[in-house]
Formats: sequence, C-alpha cells, structure tokens
Amino acid sequence: MQFTVAIDGPAGAGKGTLAKAVAARFGFAHLDTGLLYRAVGRKALDQGRGTLDEGLAELVARELTPPDLARDDLRGALASRAASKVAAMAGVRKALVAFQRDFARREGGAVLDGRDIGSVICPQAEVKLYLDASLDARARRRHEEMAAGGAAGSLDAVRREIEERDSRDASRADAPLTKPVDAHLIDTTDLTIEQAVERAVDIIEQALARV
Ligand code: DC
Repeated sequence: MQFTVAIDGPAGAGKGTLAKAVAARFGFAHLDTGLLYRAVGRKALDQGRGTLDEGLAELVARELTPPDLARDDLRGALASRAASKVAAMAGVRKALVAFQRDFARREGGAVLDGRDIGSVICPQAEVKLYLDASLDARARRRHEEMAAGGAAGSLDAVRREIEERDSRDASRADAPLTKPVDAHLIDTTDLTIEQAVERAVDIIEQALARV
C-alpha cells in the first residue's frame, strides 16, 4: 500500500514530534526533510570554509549520502541558519526532490515533515496536515528543547532566530512556506502533544478508510 502523510508548518510548531508519533502509530516510515537541508547547509559551510557558495551547495545536495544525515551537529543554530539559506537556493531544492518523492511512495506508508511537502513534493498526498502555533509558543518550545540538550541561549534570542527563519522560509521565491488549501490546520498553541496526535490520528484514520 502507498499512503503519504504530508506535514508542513513553521519551526517549533511540533511537526517533528507529531510526525514521529504518527509514523509509529501506523507503522509508516518517517522522513524529517529539514534534516536534508541542515545536512546540505552544514557540509557546504565546511567545504566552503565558512562561506555558503550556491554552486557548491547544489553539488553537495546532489551527492548527499546517509552519513551526512547522521552528523551530530545538525540541530544547532549554525546548521539551522545554513539550512534556511540553502533552502532558498532553487538548485538545492531541485536536487532533493527525487529522493523525497521516492521516499513518499514507498510501500507501507510514509510520513514526511517539512515546509513544502503538501504543496510541491507530494501534492497528491492522501493526507495533508499544516501545523501552526503562536510565535511565543514556538519560541518557548524550541528554547526548552535546546536547554534540555544543554545548549545555553536566551528565550529572546531563540524568538529572534525563529522570526528571522520564518520570514526567510515564507518569502523565498521557490517553494515558500504556505498552507495548501486542502491541508487540515492543527493549531498546537494550546494543545498537548497527545491532543495534537489524537487529532492527526483521527484525520488519517478517516483517509485510510477511504483507500
Ligand atoms: O524543519 P527544520 O527546522 O529542520 O528545517 C530547517 C530549514 O530547512 C528551515 O529553515 C526550512 C528549510 N526546509 C525547507 O525549506 N523545506 C523543507 N521541506 C524542510 C525544511
């Protein structure tokens, strides 16, 4: 069976946590597509000795390998910023399309989370979810996550970083972050993880009953 769940939304809306929980619940494979951009950004920075060159980033994207995705420095602020910059490069996005589409159509079901999954990568996805939350709620979650991981930094700095990334992700010419009209909106501002997962599970079960 091929069945794709596309999950999009801004940083800190809870996409990753929800995607993992939903994949485990239904036995689907999960791809965190943000990790692809993080890996490209980080590797291109290394190879460019600290500067991000578009041609180099495109080459890195075309030749990305599984060990690149397993690096342990992909969650930090440096990789986040680099990811958001390479994500605005059309050649980089193009180089990552085929891998994501193949993953989405694998047998047994797939969940992909990102920014353009329902709009560009899988417009035919059986289920599209769009997660959102207030800037304050997203900054608070990201800050707690980082503090738990031992990274210092003020809540204000995290909020600014998220705001900057949001505006870059939403204003780029190629595949900007938008809610597809046929996506189900889940606003997680006042929801627990369990409540958000429950809503997503209901929507997916209804779609599964139709295939
Ligand atoms: O979800 P994340 O924070 O790991 O994403 C890192 C960056 O990559 C973010 O700035 C947006 C970008 N991205 C994208 O443009 N398209 C995707 N499908 C996933 C992430």
